Order: sequence, then C-alpha cells, then structure tokens
Amino acid sequence: MCGIVGYIGKRVAIPILVDGLKKLEYRGYDSAGVAVLDCEKIVVSKSVGKLVALEEELGQSYSQSCIGIGHTRWATHGRPSQVNAHPHCDCKQDFVVVHNGIIENYLELKDMLIEKGHKFASETDTEVLAHLLEAYYEGDLEGAVRNVLKTIRGSYAMVVLRRQDPNKLVAARKDSPMVVGLGDGEFFVASDITAILNYTRKVYILDDGEMVVITEDGVKVFDFEGNPRAKEVYDVKWDAVAAEKGGYEHFMLKEIHEQPKALKDTMLGRLEDEKVVLQEVDLTLEELAQINKVYIVACGTAWHAGLVGKTLIERWAHLPVEVDIASEFRYRSPLVDDHTLVVVVSQSGETADTLAALREAKNRGARVVAVTNVVGSTVSREAHDVIFTWAGPEIAVASTKAYTTQLEGMVLLGLYLSQVKGTLPKERIAEIITALRKIPAQVQELLDQSSLIKELAESFAKVENTFFIGRSLDWAVAMEGSLKLKEISYIHAEAYAAGELKHGTLALITEATPVIALATQRDVYEKTISNVKEVKARDAKVIGLTYKGNTSMAKSVDHVIYIPETMDELSPILTVIPLQLLSYYVSVARGCDVDKPRNLAKSVTVE
Ligand code: AGP
Repeated sequence: MCGIVGYIGKRVAIPILVDGLKKLEYRGYDSAGVAVLDCEKIVVSKSVGKLVALEEELGQSYSQSCIGIGHTRWATHGRPSQVNAHPHCDCKQDFVVVHNGIIENYLELKDMLIEKGHKFASETDTEVLAHLLEAYYEGDLEGAVRNVLKTIRGSYAMVVLRRQDPNKLVAARKDSPMVVGLGDGEFFVASDITAILNYTRKVYILDDGEMVVITEDGVKVFDFEGNPRAKEVYDVKWDAVAAEKGGYEHFMLKEIHEQPKALKDTMLGRLEDEKVVLQEVDLTLEELAQINKVYIVACGTAWHAGLVGKTLIERWAHLPVEVDIASEFRYRSPLVDDHTLVVVVSQSGETADTLAALREAKNRGARVVAVTNVVGSTVSREAHDVIFTWAGPEIAVASTKAYTTQLEGMVLLGLYLSQVKGTLPKERIAEIITALRKIPAQVQELLDQSSLIKELAESFAKVENTFFIGRSLDWAVAMEGSLKLKEISYIHAEAYAAGELKHGTLALITEATPVIALATQRDVYEKTISNVKEVKARDAKVIGLTYKGNTSMAKSVDHVIYIPETMDELSPILTVIPLQLLSYYVSVARGCDVDKPRNLAKSVTVE
C-alpha cells in the first residue's frame, strides 16, 4: 500500500507533490521520490526512508517545473532501497511511472522484455510498466497505456508522464484507490483525498477500470477500451486529519475495515483452482521429506496466529507442530536441527525476541520460513523463505488486519506443505481454496454488522473481569479476542480452553464476570455448549459466537453473534472480526486511547 500523487498546473509542482506525499506517508514510508519534466528532460529525485530524507535531497533549489508525479513506498517487491524507490523509468528515460499495487505477472513480462533487450535497474514489479510503455508506444500516450493495461494482471493505481508530452499526465486504476482533484486551471491525482485537500475539495473518485488523461485544459475520463465516462464531482467535507484515517475515528477501526482488501491482496497470485502457488517458498519434496518437526515461533498476536497454524499444518500436512513464545524458545535449548522447519511470524519483522529465536533456529541448522508484513524487515532478510502478508502498513498498536492475513498465511503454508507432501487429495485442496476465496466477502458481511457489536459493547464497557472460552481453533481465537480487549480497554480478560474451566477457573465465574463463548468447531460444538451451560449455571452473562444456523446456541446464551458459515479450519478469520469490533467499541466507550494504548509499542525491538 503505497501513496501516489501527480500535479499539472501553473504552480511549481515539487512543493505540492511533497506536501501530498506527507499526507500519504501513513500508507508507506520505506522510500519516497518525485519526477518532474524540466527542459524536456525527466528529472527524478528519490531517497530511502521517511519523506524528510527526500526533502533534504531536494533542498531549496529544485526544478520550477509545473508538472510532476510523486510516490511514497510500502515495499512489496524488492526491499527498501534507492534503486527500488519510485518513480521508475524505461531504458531511454522517456517514460516515468509511479504505481500503488501489485503486478502479479511481472516476472514473465520482465523476462519477455529482457529478451527484447530492455535493461532493468530495480527488483520492483513496477519498473515493468515503464518498459512496457517504451515497447508499446506507437505515437500516442493513451494508446500505449491501454496496451499496457491489456497485458498486466493484478492491482494498480498508476500515473505516467512522458518526456515528449510535457502537458499531459495519464493515470489508471484497478483494485487500488485513486482520486482526481479539480482545481482552477490546475489538476491533481492521488491515492486518496488527504493528499490534495489543501488545494481543492472538488474531486472525481475513480472506479475500477477507469483511466484519466489530465492536461492543463482539464480532465477526461475513459474506460480501459477508450470509451468516455461521465463522472460526478464529489465535494469533500472532511478535515485533513480525519482524511488520513479515511474518515474513520481511529486507525484501528480503519484497519479493521481494511481486512477484506488485505485478505484479497494476500491471496493475489497465490491461488489457482486446485493449487496454492508460493513463489517465495521453494521447499522440494526431498527437502520436506527431511523435515520431521515444525516449530511456529512468535510473540503476542502473531503467536496466536501460530496456534491456528499448528492445527492446520498437523491436520493437512501431517507434520508435528510445536508453537512457542519467542522469548521462551530462545532460551529453552529447543530440540531443533536440520530436520526442523521453523516458522517465525511477525507483523513488523523487527520484534527482538522473534528475531533472536530466528537466529537461534538457524544456528541449530533449521530451515526458517518467515510470515511477515514488512518487506525489507530484518526478519524477512534473515529468514530462508518469506511469505509476505499484503496487509499494508498497520499503524494502530492493536494488530487486526495483520492477524487475519497471518491466519491466511498459515492456511497457504498448510496447504502448500500438504501439496508438496501429497497428504491431501486435489479435490480437498480445491474445496479449501474455494472456501478461502469467499472469506473477504464474508468478513465484509460481518463488518456490516458493526452497529450491533457497538450496542453490545456499550453494555459491556463497565466490566472489570471477563473470560473468553472455546475449544480447538475457537480457543486459539479466544486467546486473540482476550488480548485485544486487554490491550486497548484495560479490562482483565482471560481466554480458556472451554473444557478446562471446571478444573479450577470456574471458581471465578459469577454474575459479575461475563463470558464470551466461541463455538464454530463442528466436531466439539455440543461439548462447547455444555461448557456454556456450566458458566450459565454460575449466573455468568454469556455472549455466544457461532455459525448462522446453529440456533441451539441462542437457547444457552444471553446474546448470539452469528458468523457466516465456512469450513472450521477457516473460521478463525471470521470469528475474530466481532471480537476486534467489540474490543474497539468497549475501548472507545471507556475513553481509552485506542490507537496508542498505555504501556505498549507497535514493534517491541527490545528483549
Ligand atoms: C498485538 O496487538 C500487539 N501489538 C502485540 O502483541 C504484537 O502482536 C507483538 O508485539 C508481536 O509483534 P510483531 O507481529 O510485529 O512481531
């Protein structure tokens, strides 16, 4: 999730581009760059790291050009570096491009272009766009862009500038956001409204499959076939700060609502009808045959994703899995050797304990696969193989979209290992892939019920102690639900394997300790209901979560939250959504600092 911006008008472009990028920096801060047209030359300035580095690079004596494009990067393909920073050019520096999204088929296109003699400077998927433009240009820029759009697959919002077209920007979008700002004799294009709010409140919000040709005289909108499109002008009422949160009150709520897209992006290019494709992990059958044990090692929410991963890998790939808290694993002299596969999970890729556990595992000869959200992070650089979650930057301390995409990472890894080992029939893998493709829409269905959860949360906000219970994968999700509530509402919450309550903790259950009971695992559903009856018998108020259709739950609890039906192994991605929303609304009701809870940091880089 990068930030892109473009300007054409009468004012000097660079200050406007840099100001826009500042507003988009929450979308990515691995590197930044701008390109302007000066004396018929494309002038590119880019730098690694936060935007301030680019401002220093530009200094005060920059080009007075009135046309340009800019980019702030969240690395996906190619680690954060100077050469991988956008904008990217073709061989002759005739075309320059900024892009937000993922070009799925960039590797095959790159090979095709290299065969034709093109020279690539970076590792990025985006640079392919500039070389394709060079290859397809036949006299008009719009035509060349349309040909490129016919060739590429994936998600993109892109802006193109050509040296020989000094009064034109061409942009297009599919599955990545883009708005066009309408000024007085000047026009803007950007990833979102935040970047241009200081200059205009009149915007076109582009839809998927639309491209725009912007000149000083105006903006023309077309579909990808070149047919004109009429657009309604949207009058923006937001203030800039609210805009950065996309109109949401907190980054956490915004990130909760970004999960359908994050889940879709994380499966991009990795699912075929009956097969999972993990280009990032190349474990051969011979190598996997050597593996007799798997460890999943992580901290906090990432560890909770590992708990789900254990069941999936054991059930699908028939490999024994141990899940370890990184701060324990690193000092426990774990039985790890070159027959061990160690999976480290980390949103930030910088958590000190997880990093040390990774190094410990490598020192003992293990093969290390990382599941992380940050390209270029230390964990991603030191692991042997990396499965990136494409959740985009996660700003709120409480992890939400990173967790659900980590769960998806566990599903992909479990299926991949079963595929290499041949432990699951093709039909079963196809069944799971079909169900997984439905998950983003089912998450959206749950998000559309937010108001119900908000009501529930208001009655829950006065609670001081609560328990989350579940069996099997529900227990793993109960762990995450209780952590979310603890870390942002400061309510003491514990998660318990439902069958374990009667061995002691049941003593704590009273009418003052509400219980949240998760019951989606069909093979232990009845057992969980009987555990619910145990706590009800001690007057606890119970909120139940189960699949639509499980009406028997309603008879046993005070309030039911129904989730769309899916297969049990995938239900954690759905069941956690109401728990994230509950924690969020309880935290708001208690007046807590939702995005920056006390005593916590987004990435714990100390022991
Ligand atoms: C989760 O909401 C917390 N922010 C915390 O538990 C977090 O999951 C943990 O610190 C691990 O972080 P990582 O995924 O970046 O390694």
